Amino acid sequence: MTTQAVAHADPRRLTIHRTGDSRLRSDPGPTETFARAVRDGLLARPRTLPFPYFYDEVGSALFEQICRVPEYYLTRTEDAILREHAGAMTEGWTAPPTIVELGSGSAEKTRRLIAAALRRHGHLHYVPIDVSASAVEDSARTLVRTFEALRVTAYVGDYRQSLAEIAARIPGPKLLVFLGSSLGNYEPDAAASLLAAVSESMGPDDRLLLGTDMAKSASVLEPAYDDPQGVTARFNRNLLVRINRELGADFVPERFQHQAVYRADRGRVELHLVSLENQVVHIPAANLTTHFARGESIHTENSHKYTREALFHMAEHGGFVEEASWTDSQGWFRVQRWRLRTTPSGPAH
Ligand code: TRP
Repeated sequence: MTTQAVAHADPRRLTIHRTGDSRLRSDPGPTETFARAVRDGLLARPRTLPFPYFYDEVGSALFEQICRVPEYYLTRTEDAILREHAGAMTEGWTAPPTIVELGSGSAEKTRRLIAAALRRHGHLHYVPIDVSASAVEDSARTLVRTFEALRVTAYVGDYRQSLAEIAARIPGPKLLVFLGSSLGNYEPDAAASLLAAVSESMGPDDRLLLGTDMAKSASVLEPAYDDPQGVTARFNRNLLVRINRELGADFVPERFQHQAVYRADRGRVELHLVSLENQVVHIPAANLTTHFARGESIHTENSHKYTREALFHMAEHGGFVEEASWTDSQGWFRVQRWRLRTTPSGPAH
C-alpha cells in the first residue's frame, strides 16, 4: 500500500491510500487482470464483461450525468430520503462515528450525512473507498474545502482489502455507508459475500446504512436505464471504448446497441450491448479474436430490485438486524440501518 498526502488542501486533513488490486484502478497500471476478465467474459455464453471496469475517468463522469437524468429517479429519491432523515441516520453515538463509505463516487448524497454528523459532534472523520481514483480524489478535496472540521482518509481500490485495513487501523465506532443501490449490481452470491466482508469488519457499536432500489413497474424501471438522451447508452458503450484504449481492441461502439430489460422473474434490470451486425472484434492484449452474430448480446451489468422480504432475508442471512428504515412516499427506494445480530454471548454467525 502507498500513502500520499495531497497538495493544495490542508495535508493534515486529507490522506489518500491505494490498496487492493492495483489493476482495478482507473490510472494506468498493469492490464493483465483486466485483459483476463475481458477474455473470460467474452468467451462465456452468454457473454459478459466485468462491470467494475465501467468506472474509468470517463465512466465516472458519465455516471454523474446519469444521476441527473430525469428518468433516473434513484439518485434524487435517495437524496431526498437522506436529506430528511440524515439526523436519525447518524445518531446513537456519543463520540462521532467514523463514516466509511463504499463506492463514494462524487459523495454528493453523503454530504447530507456528513453535515448532520458535524452539526451534532463538531468534528468528523470520513473514509471513502472507491475504485475510481479520479472520483475519490476530486470529491475528497472538495469535501475538506467545504467542511473545516472534516478529516478525510480516502482509499482507492478494492472494497474488501480496504475494509480490512480500515478495521485494523481506525479505532472507534463506525457508520458504514453503501448507497445508490450499488449492492444490486452484484449477483446475489457476490452480494452476500460482500455483506459478509462488511459484517466481518464491524463491531457491536458499528452500523451499516444500506440504500436499495425497490421492485416496481417495468415502465418506470426501463426508462431509468435507457434514457432518451442516451447518457446510459454512452456509459454502457464506454466499456468498449476502454477495452479499445487499454487492450488495443477494435470495437466499433456504435455497432452495439444499448439495451435495458427488466426481468421481474430474476428481480433485476439487465444491461446489454447487442451486436447490430455480424462482426469480428480483435482484442490483442486479451489474445482474443471473436465473432459476434447479429443480435448476439454482451450482458454488461445487473441492477437488482428488492422487495422488503428479500431485504429482511439478506439481513437475516448476513447476520444483521434491521434497526430502522426510511423510504419515500411512493416506496420506490429504501434506506435501512443494520447492526450486527448479537447473542448475549457475543456476535452471532
Ligand atoms: N447502482 C446503481 C443502479 O444500479 C447505479 C448504476 C450502476 C448504474 N451501474 C449502472 C446506472 C449502469 C445505470 C447504468 O442503478
